[in-house]
Amino acid sequence: MDFALTQEQMQVRKMVRDWAAKEILPVIGEWDRKQEMNPAELPRMAELGILGICIPVRYGGQGYDYITLGLVCEELERADTHLRVVMSVHMGLNSLAVLQWGTEEQKQRFLVPQARGEKYAAFCLTEPGAGSDVVSMVSTARKAGDKYILNGEKMWISLATKAHNFLVVAKTDPAAAHKGMTAFIVERDMPGVTMGDIHGKLGVRAGSTGWVAMQDVEVPAANRLGEEGEGFKIAMSCLDNGRYTVGAGATGLIRACLEDSLKYAHERKTFGKPIGEHQLIKQKLAYMQQWYDAAQLMMYKVGWMKNSGKRNTRETGMFKWYATDMAVKAALEAVQLHGAYGFSDEYPVERYLRNSKGSVIYEGTSEIHQLMQADYALGLRHDGRLRCELPAYDAEYWQAEPQPA
Ligand code: CAA
Repeated sequence: MDFALTQEQMQVRKMVRDWAAKEILPVIGEWDRKQEMNPAELPRMAELGILGICIPVRYGGQGYDYITLGLVCEELERADTHLRVVMSVHMGLNSLAVLQWGTEEQKQRFLVPQARGEKYAAFCLTEPGAGSDVVSMVSTARKAGDKYILNGEKMWISLATKAHNFLVVAKTDPAAAHKGMTAFIVERDMPGVTMGDIHGKLGVRAGSTGWVAMQDVEVPAANRLGEEGEGFKIAMSCLDNGRYTVGAGATGLIRACLEDSLKYAHERKTFGKPIGEHQLIKQKLAYMQQWYDAAQLMMYKVGWMKNSGKRNTRETGMFKWYATDMAVKAALEAVQLHGAYGFSDEYPVERYLRNSKGSVIYEGTSEIHQLMQADYALGLRHDGRLRCELPAYDAEYWQAEPQPA
């Protein structure tokens, strides 16, 4: 077993860390207060290759592996959660699904511009009345010749007002429950597609969250991802990837809490000595370190499983659940350790606390993950029967230049 990172992985991690330190951290407090996304960020992420980091070079990406994706997400959320959210939807929930499920024509049309960062991508599963209970969605897709007519409303959609391509799941056969759902790529300029932002969120305020509505949207059959009836399975496979990015981001958030708390523990003095020399403060730091180390190990394990093409639904769910729950705990401890300063936006830990709460809700609440993990333990749920797999990482294939047609 080898836990050493490759030179390439370390270089990419350093590139993202340096960028965040120079261009994000100095201004993030301001954008968070304004509750707006800095318009310079997405083009800059595209320029740095982040938006196609683990997509094969032949499809416009950088050709790095899934562990590199995890490291990038850790660094992004170390700076601010909203940057990792971009990766969760653009890469985890959308681009990797097009890589996994798309036809060659769909990869050329959608994946290539997304990996190059010329187009941004989002994921539309959740509805005003359907979150954890995916099958209760009411959006429909009615077949009409070589098109589908889509109607419905999707909610809590990250990048709703920024994305060009939406991976939408809708019901083609409402009577058939999860077997009656189908996935489509809906383009933002298709007539009948409207979107807007949601304001007043507790956290991730520097990010973009909104709604997407579809009224009699004519979607060509060529935009259907997978077969009719495969939408639920595709959505779940998207979540296998999205949840990995969320867990990796939460690992970065735990590190942010730890690093800021260590700094403060050295600087702040009470009763004649730095607070880090008091036992109750040491205990908080020790727990944060433990949560970080454990989350990081889970990230490496899941990244390795993805690289090897092994089914990882259970391990990804466990990682997402653990890392996000621990990020909330770490943020609470970091605020407590900072005392009254932690309660004000003079220090970033209050932002960490607000941001940490979203991750235990989206991409499967902690409660959904607990139910799934209990069912795995009880032998009531088995990944073995699930067929679809993300392509294993093969450096030679992923880094090969596109062949001339
Ligand atoms: N990969 C492939 N296939 C899968 C799969 C996976 N990971 N998971 C399930 N399937 C298949 C199963 O094999 C099964 O197929 P068969 O009927 O052919 O056997 C079928 O899908 C049904 O699966 P389950 O029996 O496991 O379904 P379930 O009803 O027991 O469990 C659930 C469903 C776990 C509760 C699921 O609905 C779930 O995860 N809910 C949470 C949804 C969620 O995370 N929503 C967040 C949306 S994203 C978001 O937040 C927006 C954003 O922009 C950030």
